Amino acid sequence: MAGESQNWVLMVTAQTPTNIAVIKYWGKRDETLILPVNDSISVTLDPKHLCTTTTVAVSPSFQQDRMWLNGKEISLSGGRYQNCLREIRSRACDVEDKKRGIKILKEDWGKLHLHIASYNNFPTAAGLASSAAGLACLVFALAKLMNVKEDESQLSAIARQGSGSACRSLYGGFVKWIMGKEENGSDSLAVQLADEKHWDDLVIVIAVVSARQKETSSTSGMRDTVETSLLLQHRAKEIVPKRILQMEEAIKNRDFASFARLTCTDSNQFHAVCLDTCPPIFYMNDTSHKIISIVEKWNRSEETPQVAYTFDAGPNAVLIARNRQTAALLIQRLLYYFPPNSDDLDSYIIGDKSILQDAGLKGINDVEVLPPPPEIKDNIPSQKYKGEVNYFICTKPGRGPVLLADEDLALLNIDLFYPCL
Ligand code: ADE
Repeated sequence: MAGESQNWVLMVTAQTPTNIAVIKYWGKRDETLILPVNDSISVTLDPKHLCTTTTVAVSPSFQQDRMWLNGKEISLSGGRYQNCLREIRSRACDVEDKKRGIKILKEDWGKLHLHIASYNNFPTAAGLASSAAGLACLVFALAKLMNVKEDESQLSAIARQGSGSACRSLYGGFVKWIMGKEENGSDSLAVQLADEKHWDDLVIVIAVVSARQKETSSTSGMRDTVETSLLLQHRAKEIVPKRILQMEEAIKNRDFASFARLTCTDSNQFHAVCLDTCPPIFYMNDTSHKIISIVEKWNRSEETPQVAYTFDAGPNAVLIARNRQTAALLIQRLLYYFPPNSDDLDSYIIGDKSILQDAGLKGINDVEVLPPPPEIKDNIPSQKYKGEVNYFICTKPGRGPVLLADEDLALLNIDLFYPCL
C-alpha cells in the first residue's frame, strides 16, 4: 500500500432506486445463493422520490467494517451483507488517487476495513422494498470504490446474493431478472428491457396503507410457500414463462391494456399463492381490497384499462396510470374514498405534487366537494374510508444507480467523522 501515512480516507457516494415487480418473484430454489423459481420483471421507480444514498469509505486507520443505516449503527454480520462484501472484495482492482498520493493495490483490499453509511429517502418500515435499493446501492458503491470492472448485469448477480429483488435495482426503466439455470447462480442476473425514457407517460401512485401487525417476512413466507404450495409449482413452470414473454411484448409496444391486465393478474396470483401456503399468508388487508375494487370498477366502466395495480408482501398498493391525465382522475378517486385525516394535503400527497394541480385540487376544500366517480351507480351510497391510507407517493419510472460526484452529498463527513485524518 503506497501512502506511507495512515492518515487518509477514500470515499465514494452512490444513489440507487427501488423497484416494483409487475411479474412477481416469490420462491427460491436455492436459499443461500438466492436463486428464484421463476423470472420476474420490474419497473424502476424515480430515485427523486424513492432511493437509497450510500457512502462507502476506506482508510488504513479503520479497525473493522462498520455500517450505519439512517444514522443508527447496524450489524454487518448477517449473511446478506457478508456475501456482498466478500464477492466485491474478491473482484477489487488497483486504485490510485494521484493528487492525494494514495495507491491501493488489488491485494491490499483484503486487509483494509470499510465504513458504510446509508440513508433511505422514504420510511424504511413502510414496506417499500428498501432492502432492494439498499443492497443494490451497497454493491454499486463498493464496486466503484474498489474499481471493480464488472458491468451492471454482473454486479446484479452480486446484489442478488444480498437481497433477491436488489438485482433489479441495478438498472433504470424496465428490468428482467433472469432466473438462470446454473447451480452456482452465475447466470441468475438482471438485464434491462427498456430504459425509463421508453415509456415516460406512465405515472405511479403508491398508497402507503396502515398495517396493524407486522407481516410474515418475505424470507420465511417464501420458504413456507416453496415447501407447501402446489399452486406455486404450477405458477413457476406453466404460467410465468408465458407471462414473461407477453409482458416483454407489452412493454416493447407500450401496450397499456396488456401491461395492466398482466400486472393485475400476476399480483393477484402471487397473493393466491400466499393463500395456498400452509399456514396461509395474508399480505393484503381490507384497505388493499377496497383499492382493488375501486380500480377494477373504474377499468370495467371504460373501454380500456386506465390503471394497473400491484401489491408486494404488504398492504401498500402500487398503482400505475397510463398517463398524467388518467393519474389526475385516479387521485380524484383515491382522495374521494380515502380523504386525509387532517387538513394538510401537502403531507398527504408526497413526491410529484403537480398531480394535485392536474386534478384541480388546491386544498382540502376541493377534496371535500369531490363528486362520487361516475362509475358508481346512483342508487348505491358510496362509503368513505378516512384514515385507512397514511399517505400517497406520486412518482414515475426512473433511472438506475448513479455516482454522486459532489462531496457535499457524502453521508460520512471527513471533518466531522474523521477529524484526525
Ligand atoms: N435495508 C433497508 N434499507 C437498507 C439500506 N439502505 N442499506 C442496506 N440495507 C438496508
